[in-house]
Amino acid sequence: MTGKISHIGVLTGGGDCPGLNAVIRAVTKCAIIEYGLEVVGFMDGFRGLVEDDYMPLDLKTVSGISHTGGTILGCSNRDNPFAYNTFRQGQMTQSDESERALYNLEHLALDGLIVIGGDGSLSIANRFDKLGVKVVGVPKTIDNDLSATDVTFGFNTAVNTASEALDKLHTTAESHHRVMILEVMGRYAGWIAMHAGISGSADVILIPEIPYNIESVLAKISERYRKGKKFSIIVVAEGAFAEGGEMVVQNYVPTSHDPIRLGGVAQKVAEEIGARLKNIEIRVTVLGHLQRGGAPVPYDRVLATRYGVAAVEAFMEGKYGTMVSLKGTEITTVKLEEAIKEIRRIDPKGDLVRAARAVGIGFGDNKQIT
Ligand code: F6P
Repeated sequence: MTGKISHIGVLTGGGDCPGLNAVIRAVTKCAIIEYGLEVVGFMDGFRGLVEDDYMPLDLKTVSGISHTGGTILGCSNRDNPFAYNTFRQGQMTQSDESERALYNLEHLALDGLIVIGGDGSLSIANRFDKLGVKVVGVPKTIDNDLSATDVTFGFNTAVNTASEALDKLHTTAESHHRVMILEVMGRYAGWIAMHAGISGSADVILIPEIPYNIESVLAKISERYRKGKKFSIIVVAEGAFAEGGEMVVQNYVPTSHDPIRLGGVAQKVAEEIGARLKNIEIRVTVLGHLQRGGAPVPYDRVLATRYGVAAVEAFMEGKYGTMVSLKGTEITTVKLEEAIKEIRRIDPKGDLVRAARAVGIGFGDNKQIT
């Protein structure tokens, strides 16, 4: 323990995610109760740090927020202090405002920062670490695609939402003898699709890690028909793409760390199926930001609380430049550099895919078991 730490700042960077408030609460309570620190929260992620926009966090401010969705601090995935966006005379310009952020940390007498974020925000945290700022990161994203931790908080809530949607689609699919296609988020990894698809008894799951072949999807639907199952449920990760094809990009957000926004692959799959199986009705549901909103499930509240407390402990132990991480059942720390090196994707030969195949789920490749 350093003994000199008395003030810390916290911010929620990037897109929101269920469980952010539970982390803010855990950081604040642990910092105040266990270590007698003062805590401030920056508004809208790194924007607040650059603009000196913050609120003091005390036991009252964080009371009763663990079960709530969103973030009391607001968040932003456009405000990178090293390439800060400013609109002037109708034009967007970018400048390095990291000096302003450093100045604000100093004038608030903050000893350092706890950054709750995904790969974009943690990359920024890593740059501040290199400039000598004391930083500890907390892994956040519904996509569960950070390689240095087994689970990110928010993922289980998103899976829960997608799985509930599948349960509902199942009953209406069966009544109308339809093919129902659900598109879920996840960026370049298929974790949400995989977990929701297995949990919601999907017939086909399409993920970016296993490029699909539409013939194989058609074969699966037809096979079910022959067996008397006149409906099918397909879960499509937004990053899924056909063999030899590309991901479907919905739009481009130039101010964002990762400017590509995926979306629309479910509609593409529906059109491809519809062109061949003309007597079957197909409907598409895009779950979108419902997966990011609402109350965190209990698992995420617990994980977020453990991460928040561990982040303060790591900070007080002088483990700067690290991110708290879940390995197996234990919370540990990893270097920020490790945390942002690569994204974690599904192993097509791993046990998750093998288990899904063994219960008859197809992946739109040629290895399906009917
Ligand atoms: O990374 C979280 C995530 O929800 C992705 O699953 C999705 O592709 C993206 O963010 C959507 O971003 P936005 O909120 O900017 O539309």
